[in-house]
Order: sequence, then structure tokens, then C-alpha cells
Amino acid sequence: MAEPTKIVLPESEIPKQWYNIQADLPGPTLPPLHPATKNPVGPEDLSPIFPMALIQQEVSTERFIPIPEEILDVLSLWRPTPLFRARRLEKALGTPAHIYYKYEGNSPPGSHKPNTAVAQVYYNMKEGVKRITTETGAGQWGSALSFAGKVFGVEIKVYMVRVSFEQKPYRKSMMHAWGATVVPSPSPDTEYGRKVLAENPDTPGSLGIAISEAIEDAVSREDTKYSLGSVLNHVLLHQTVIGEEVHKQMEIAGEYPDVLIGCVGGGSNFAGFAFPFLRDKIAGKEMKVIAVEPKACPTLTKGPFAYDFGDTSGLTPLLPMHTLGHTFVPPKIHAGGLRYHGVAPLISKLVLEGLVEPRAYGQREVFDAAVLFARTEGFIVAPETAHAVKATIDEALKAKEEGKKKVIAFNLSGHGHFDMSAYDAYFNGQLEDYELPEEEIKKALKVVEDYPKPEV
Ligand SMILES: Cc1ncc(COP(=O)(O)O)c(C=O)c1O
Repeated sequence: MAEPTKIVLPESEIPKQWYNIQADLPGPTLPPLHPATKNPVGPEDLSPIFPMALIQQEVSTERFIPIPEEILDVLSLWRPTPLFRARRLEKALGTPAHIYYKYEGNSPPGSHKPNTAVAQVYYNMKEGVKRITTETGAGQWGSALSFAGKVFGVEIKVYMVRVSFEQKPYRKSMMHAWGATVVPSPSPDTEYGRKVLAENPDTPGSLGIAISEAIEDAVSREDTKYSLGSVLNHVLLHQTVIGEEVHKQMEIAGEYPDVLIGCVGGGSNFAGFAFPFLRDKIAGKEMKVIAVEPKACPTLTKGPFAYDFGDTSGLTPLLPMHTLGHTFVPPKIHAGGLRYHGVAPLISKLVLEGLVEPRAYGQREVFDAAVLFARTEGFIVAPETAHAVKATIDEALKAKEEGKKKVIAFNLSGHGHFDMSAYDAYFNGQLEDYELPEEEIKKALKVVEDYPKPEV
């Protein structure tokens, strides 16, 4: 075989340190603000919900942070993950582009999410935490945290967005298999959940509502802390093992990406994949970095950069980020993990600086791309990941039009084995496209009008 289909690193090549982009960002980053005083939050404000080690990582400006041995030992179950060359897709498209994808679907829960779940549960366990609450959209994050909870002996309670709870019953079974408790959100278990249910009994739920419930639960018990699967700096940090591996794998392939692509919900897989390359871009290397989101929840493409809450009830600090307003409930698209009103402050900043280019697609064109990918490369991707596949195909076709041999790499953040009802809906012609009208965006953004404005 002249050229390999996949590049596999030995276990000894699992990255030993996380890359912290905060060390290299141009200009100062804005602090999160306390929800009551609107002053910058300090470590003590966050200590009721997070262990100190994670709070320190949240604000750290060290370029590299060592990964503890106990975490590396668990990551070695599935890491390093393979980097594939998509020859069959290239051939089907007739493109001169070289397409690569990093496959994160081979972790026990089936996505990139355990890269941070394992780290977060480890640090909680070290500080004596017995129970952790969280939210989940698609169910990928809830299953990742359930898996990590079982590894380190910490009890997990998951508030699962109701529409996903109903659309994806086997994700719930998976969390049960790892011993976690799962309830649909909004739930009767919290004061906020009861309030939302009373006002709107048919609500599909949202990540923002589920986060509010999980935080309320955590602060009401001494033995419990809260864990977030995306958005925050420390979560993005833990995901950088992905991009650090890709860096080495591209070197072995003897190529360097001209275009990097990832889908964005809160931003963790995109960040993990792209930050180690953005380090090179900040240092002057030429490349295009594309963050892909749904037209139904166009946070980066249509939302302003503003201070807003990370959850719906206003329990979190105010974060400087692109947002559609924290009370916005996105339409019921199948990419549950992309139904979030905000996006990570670090990614928001990179978009503002022009280092990352956002792009939005509709649900149907995204599934067209996922099905072409399944029929060429074989892998059936998660609906979230399918957004990155669509952008990759568009970029490869553009390279064909221009007659350029571009190198395009995307992050295959998770498999879609628990999302087959979404594929069925596509095959049966039942998938709807939602493009959020400007009027609705304006209405949703009214909630942020009175908050402090970030200076940019
Ligand atoms: C497979 C997959 N990809 C992407 C995402 C989006 O999250 P993030 O933007 O944090 O990577 C999710 C979230 O649930 C997911 O399950």
C-alpha cells in the first residue's frame, strides 16, 4: 500500500500535557461577572460548584498543563484516536483536496466528551466530592460523565433535555448501564424545573434549562458539585489532547492543514481539535479555521458578543460570549448537542479577532452530507458532527472548482449509533429545516439589553 488510510499513534504518544490557548491569545480576555454584583468573579464565588483544581485551570495562563498519570491511564482505553484519510469521499467528490478526519467515536461513550469527563471527575474525586450533577443535550455528555463517574466511584445525576430523553431512549439506557440516575429536564426534582413545567408543560427543554436544574441541585447539597460538558475554559483545555495528536499525525502524513473544521455547540470538540493549530496561526501560519453551527441556533453567525448567563435561570456568572439570549429555547433539531444559546468565551474571542470563521447550515443539507459520508467512508456520524462533514464537503468542492490541492481536516466528534431515529426521519422525508427569523432573534436578545456591555 503506497499511502496509509489511517494514521495510528502508539499509546506512548498520548499527549502528556494540555495546551492552554489563554497563554497565546491576542489582547486581554474579559472576566466572567458575578450575577448579583456584576463584578469579576473570584475563585471563592465558583467553589460551591467546582473543585479548586478546575477553578485554577479556568483562570490559568500557563501554556501547557501536565495531565496526571491516573487520567492518562483511563484515556489509554481509547487514545490516541486514529486520523483517517478520506480517500473514498475524495474520489466520490472528484476533488483534488486531501481530506482527513480525526475519529473521536471510539471512546466507550462514543464521542470526544470523556476527554474532559474523566479529568473533571478525577479532580472532584481528589477533593472528596461524592456526587456530581450535570445536564445533557444529545446524551453524549451525560453518558461520558456517567462512564467517568463509574471509573472513579463518584455518583452521577443527569438532567437530560426532554426532547432528547424522548428521541434517544438508548442514550439513557447507556447512562443506566454505568450506574447514573437520569431524569428528563425540566423535571419536578428542582424548584426551577417545577416553575418551567408549570408555565409551559409541553416545553421540549433546552440545555440552558437543564444546566439551571443541575446547578440548583449541586448548590443545595454539601456532598455534590456540578460539571459542565462544554463552554468553560477548563473543559476546552482538556479536549486539546485531540488537536495535539492530530498535529503529530499530520506530520507523519507529511502534510499541514490549509482548512480546519469542527462543529460547535458550546465549543469543546472544535476547541480541542483546532486550538493546537490556532497556536500556529496566532504565530503567523496561514490557514482557514471554520466553526460550524445549525441555522436553527445560529449563535456565532447571528448572535452579538455580549455578557450573558450560561444557563436559563441566571445562576451562572455572566460570560462574555456570542449569545442568542439565555432564555432562548432552540427549535427541536436532531443535533441536540448544538441546541445551546451561547458559545465558549474563548471561541467567541477568536471569532471576534478574525482567527475563526463561523458558518451555519440547515438540518437537511447536513444530513445529505452525513449520508454521503456514510456511503463513502462507512462511518455513521452524530447529527452534530454532520455539520462539520457538510462544511468539509463544501470546502472540498470549492477546491475542485478552483483546481487547488487543499488539505482539509475535520473533527469527527462522535458516532451516530444512537441517532438512527434522526436518520430515519431524513430517509422518510420528515426532517424540517428551521431558519431562525431575525425578529425572533431580536426578541430573544432583549434579555441581555441591561447587562454590562463587554468592551471589544
Ligand atoms: C458528538 C457531538 N459533537 C459535538 C457536540 C457539541 O458539543 P461541543 O461544541 O462542546 O463539542 C456534542 C454535544 O453533545 C456531541 O455529542
